[in-house]
Amino acid sequence: MDVKRPRIVAISSGKGGVGKTFVTLQLAAALAALKKSVVLFDGDFGLANLHVLLGMKPEFDISAVVSGAKTLPEIMIDGPLGMRIIPGASGVREMAELDGVGIAKVLQDLNAITPVPDVLLIDTGAGIGNHVTTLARLADVLLVVVRDEPASLADAYGLIKVMNRDFGYQKIEIIINDTSNAQRAEAVFARLNEVSTRFLGLPLTLAGLIPHDGSVPQATRRREMLVQRAESPAATAIRKIAASIAALPPIVEPQTFLIDRAAERMSEAT
Ligand SMILES: Nc1ncnc2c1ncn2[C@@H]1O[C@H](COP(=O)(O)OP(=O)(O)OP(=O)(O)O)[C@@H](O)[C@H]1O
Ligand SMILES: [Mg+2]
Repeated sequence: MDVKRPRIVAISSGKGGVGKTFVTLQLAAALAALKKSVVLFDGDFGLANLHVLLGMKPEFDISAVVSGAKTLPEIMIDGPLGMRIIPGASGVREMAELDGVGIAKVLQDLNAITPVPDVLLIDTGAGIGNHVTTLARLADVLLVVVRDEPASLADAYGLIKVMNRDFGYQKIEIIINDTSNAQRAEAVFARLNEVSTRFLGLPLTLAGLIPHDGSVPQATRRREMLVQRAESPAATAIRKIAASIAALPPIVEPQTFLIDRAAERMSEAT
C-alpha cells in the first residue's frame, strides 16, 4: 500500500564541531514554524547531545530500542514548537560501536512513527564511520555542513566521496556554516564543487551560507530557538533553507520503504 512517508533530511559532516547539531535543531524549529510536523532524530550514536541543548532529560534513549527494551515510538519525547525528539545515547560504548544489525533494528522502528511527520531530520554525527553513512544513506536530502577551514573541507570531500562512490549518491547539498564573509564562503563552495566535479564527476548543490552569529552562545545557554529571532543573521539563513525543504512535495511510497532499506543494510552486514 502506498502511503505518505516523511521526507528524510540528514545533516552530516566530515569533521566534527562544524555546527551540525545547531543547524539540525534550528532547521527543525524553522520547519515547525512553517507548520510542518517534524521528528528530530539524534543519530549521533554514542555522543548524543540534542536533548542536552534542549534542556531535556529523557528517561529512555535509542539504546533502549537497540536492546529491545522499548520501541522507538515509546522513547520519543515532545520538544519545543510541537516537534518530536528521538533522543540519542551518550557515553554508551555499545552504541558508539553499533553494528549493521543494531542499526537495522532502529530503522525498522522509524517506520512505525505515527502520526507520520512531514520531515524526519537526522543529525548523523561526523565522519565516514558505519553509523554516519548508514543514516546518511536514508536521506532524501543529504546536507553536508562545512566550515571554512582546510580540515573541514578535506573531510567533507572524504564524506562526499564515500557517499558517492560507495553508495551511489548523486545529489549532495552543502551548507557553509559559521562564515564571516559571504564572498569567501562562496569561494569555499566553489573550490569543493570543483574538486567533486573533477574527481567524482559529481557537481554539488549549495543549500545555503549560514553566517557566524554572535547571538548563538547566548541563545544556546537560554535554550532559545534562534530561528524565532527575526534579526539573527544565522536564523535568516536557516529559515531560507527550511523554506526550500518545506516547499518540496510530499513523498508517497510503499509503506515498507524503510524496512526495505534496512533489509538491504542487513544483507550487507552479514
Ligand atoms: N553560525 C554559527 N554562529 C555561531 N556559532 C555557531 C554557528 N554554528 C555553530 N556554532 C557553534 O559552534 C559550536 C559547534 O556546533 P555544533 O555542536 O552544532 O557542531 P557539531 O557539528 O554538531 O559538532 P559534533 O561533531 O561534535 O557533534 C557550538 O558551540 C555552536 O553553538
Ligand atoms: Mg553534534
